[in-house]
Amino acid sequence: MDKIRIRGGRPLKGTIEISGAKNAALPLMTAALLSDETLHLHRLPDLADIATLGKLLAVHGAEIVGDGNGGMKLTVRDVADTTAPYDLVRKMRASILVLGPLVARCGRARVSLPGGCAIGTRPVDLHLKALQAMGADIELASGYVEATAPKGLHGAKITFPKISVGATENALMAASLAKGETVIENAAREPEIGDLARCLNAMGAKIEGIGTETLQIQGVDRLRAAEHETVADRIEAGTYAIAAAATGGDVELIGARLEMIGAVTQILQEAGLALEETKRGLRVHLANGRVRGVDVMTEPFPGFPTDLQAQIMALMTVCEGASMITETIFENRFMHVPELMRMGANINLHGASAMVRGVAALKGAPVMATDLRASVSLVVAGLAAEGETIVNRVYHLDRGYEKLEAKLAACGADIARVA
Ligand code: EPZ
Repeated sequence: MDKIRIRGGRPLKGTIEISGAKNAALPLMTAALLSDETLHLHRLPDLADIATLGKLLAVHGAEIVGDGNGGMKLTVRDVADTTAPYDLVRKMRASILVLGPLVARCGRARVSLPGGCAIGTRPVDLHLKALQAMGADIELASGYVEATAPKGLHGAKITFPKISVGATENALMAASLAKGETVIENAAREPEIGDLARCLNAMGAKIEGIGTETLQIQGVDRLRAAEHETVADRIEAGTYAIAAAATGGDVELIGARLEMIGAVTQILQEAGLALEETKRGLRVHLANGRVRGVDVMTEPFPGFPTDLQAQIMALMTVCEGASMITETIFENRFMHVPELMRMGANINLHGASAMVRGVAALKGAPVMATDLRASVSLVVAGLAAEGETIVNRVYHLDRGYEKLEAKLAACGADIARVA
């Protein structure tokens, strides 16, 4: 199995092109199920998760062709099969996003329950309640969600008791083809939701309130062909900004903007980073001296994202002072902690909070993690550490970071994939 070898201590300097966002691309691809015409998506990242979802959509009857320019044309003339099988869903939880589109278009869907994963139990009750409010009958049988709506879905008032990105996306897609008006209250406001809504509108949907916590959708009879460019990956941008800081480097993130990273800007500035918008993106470097400790709490957008929690922790391990990092979104998202400690980090866990006391330097070590963001936090730590770090289980990184080693090596990192 491949590993990533890093010889740390070299400041990252140069430019990094930010890819299309994985977490925007996945729901955008499932939106192709809503129409019998072609959805042409531009700037899709070349990632394992995108390939996995492509395989699932093919089961449902999608014809998928690359456009030769980093994009993909997806056409689902007829839905071939409304079952999303366990073998594919278990590989990627975002597969649950086919549920809303399939029920809305076909009046039925059978989707394997994704189950828990390395970061928490991750239930899908909110997805199911939203579809029930729109008239779907839901049953759970043999590990599958079976949803039927023989007369089609109808508009509804949906108030989410808790903010969920995926449930908002499923409800939004289903409501686009439901009869009448749907209002979604307490909707997630992540930029990826706005991106999905804009794509649906380009397909002929009628969605208002984009970017706010209340989405209003007037259902339409059908959606049509459209082209859409995937939004830039704010988590990838944040990860490289943090890596630049951790190595005392200076990078320009091409395609990144301040507004897309929300509260991350403020946290990074408090930690002593300078972030300046340039013509092409965002320049990030340490304003002076060492990184300062800053407290961080994860929250739904525009708060600090859980998907950057592991990376900011890696940065805080070498800060001046201390930092309290609190995870409020997922119950088990601290798998990177023991690995960072093996590299010499000083971290104490108290329930959902981690107290990180900065040390002068990390020391390279063999490490591994069980999820994507935890794995990349170990890459960040390895870049900052003295000596050699080997990051095992590279397949996690391949799920979410396009050309990770190439992008870092181009900025001077000593990093390579080894067998
Ligand atoms: C999305 O997951 C992202 N995935 C995650 O990215 C991200 O961490 C997460 O949003 C939070 O920002 C994709 O976009 C494909 P949620 P999602 O529903 O939609 C609870 C990464 O590394 N909840 O917003 O699954 C849930 O358990 C990843 O790229 C329910 O209780 O997250 C969690 O505590 C991993 N019932 C909270 O809500 C439900 O029905 C937020 O989850 C749904 C969720």
